Amino acid sequence: MFKDKLVSYSGVQPSGNLTIGNYLGAIKNFSAYSDKYMCFYCVVDEHAITVRQVPADLRRRTYETLALYIACGLDPEKNTLYVQSHVHEHAELAWILNCFTGFGELSRMTQFKDKSAKHADNVNAGLFTYPTLMASDILLYQTDVVPIGVDQKQHVELTRNIAERFNQLYPDTFTMPEPIIAKSGKKIMSLADPTKKMSKSDENTNAVVYILDDKDTVIRKFKRAVTDSDTCVRFADGKDGINNLMTIYSCFTGKEFDEIEREFEGKGYGDFKLAVGETCADALAPVRAKFDELLKDKAYLEEVMKNGAETASYVARRTLSKVQKKLGFVQIGR
Ligand code: TYM
Repeated sequence: MFKDKLVSYSGVQPSGNLTIGNYLGAIKNFSAYSDKYMCFYCVVDEHAITVRQVPADLRRRTYETLALYIACGLDPEKNTLYVQSHVHEHAELAWILNCFTGFGELSRMTQFKDKSAKHADNVNAGLFTYPTLMASDILLYQTDVVPIGVDQKQHVELTRNIAERFNQLYPDTFTMPEPIIAKSGKKIMSLADPTKKMSKSDENTNAVVYILDDKDTVIRKFKRAVTDSDTCVRFADGKDGINNLMTIYSCFTGKEFDEIEREFEGKGYGDFKLAVGETCADALAPVRAKFDELLKDKAYLEEVMKNGAETASYVARRTLSKVQKKLGFVQIGR
């Protein structure tokens, strides 16, 4: 076993501008593992092409997603930051895992059902087998923990089922990964329809706060957020809009809901929305500044990608060759 530390692994698709959902549900939580774990955080460009991408946009967003990882506090010296397509073992293990995954299991995946409804003109096989590529990402690194938002939980559960099935046939192959889902921030909702997840692919840009939105834009979007006809800031059933804003405020300030309720007692929604907008914009300002600086230095970002790919490939190669040996593929020691 290559491991002398536990492993944390996660990924983000460079398929759109990243949102505060991606930040609060996932990226912000990645750095919690940097000191004690061996951390791999991937820009999953191969996952992104299950939906048609404009090549120039995909390329730009790949740099941007890597830059955002760093701007959000992930030090490339302490975390392996890399791009999925730079490590060919992902696609190779995914093929193998496809042969250990049921058609029925994949058909039950909520994300597949949602995306195939949304992109009915392009329900490709990659969209269907997306979860086995994700299982491959996770299992290649003998991952212990996978910090994710709640929407990815089903995929990690499938990964566990595949790993268990494989380990039963070929003992001691894969580490069993645990999904780590933040208590608060696991599902940030759309500002326009708070019953729907905030998503980077939402066409209504007012529904989504992007990590890179400037202060005025962030405040304007929160001011317009859909709430309800009540006036009292409290967390309760049926108050999806306010519940979402309270969750966002709580994630950025660390305050509990009862504390927030006390803070805004006797104040209206207008004051509350302004406070959420200002807090969010101020928290993201240093991320934006660091991002702008990083994006000017492509050579540095490419250096991070190269170093990351080298470390990731080393680990991935070891797991893949272990799997290939167990399956009976002939090894010719090249
Ligand atoms: P993606 O790119 O859709 O999202 C990246 C991460 O952000 C989380 N997230 C949210 N969390 C809270 N509220 C939201 N509104 C919200 N929107 C997104 C997601 O849960 C995710 O953690 N399949 C994955 C990428 C992936 C991956 C992996 C993740 C590929 N391989 C291996 C973990 C491990 C995806 O599409 O994430």
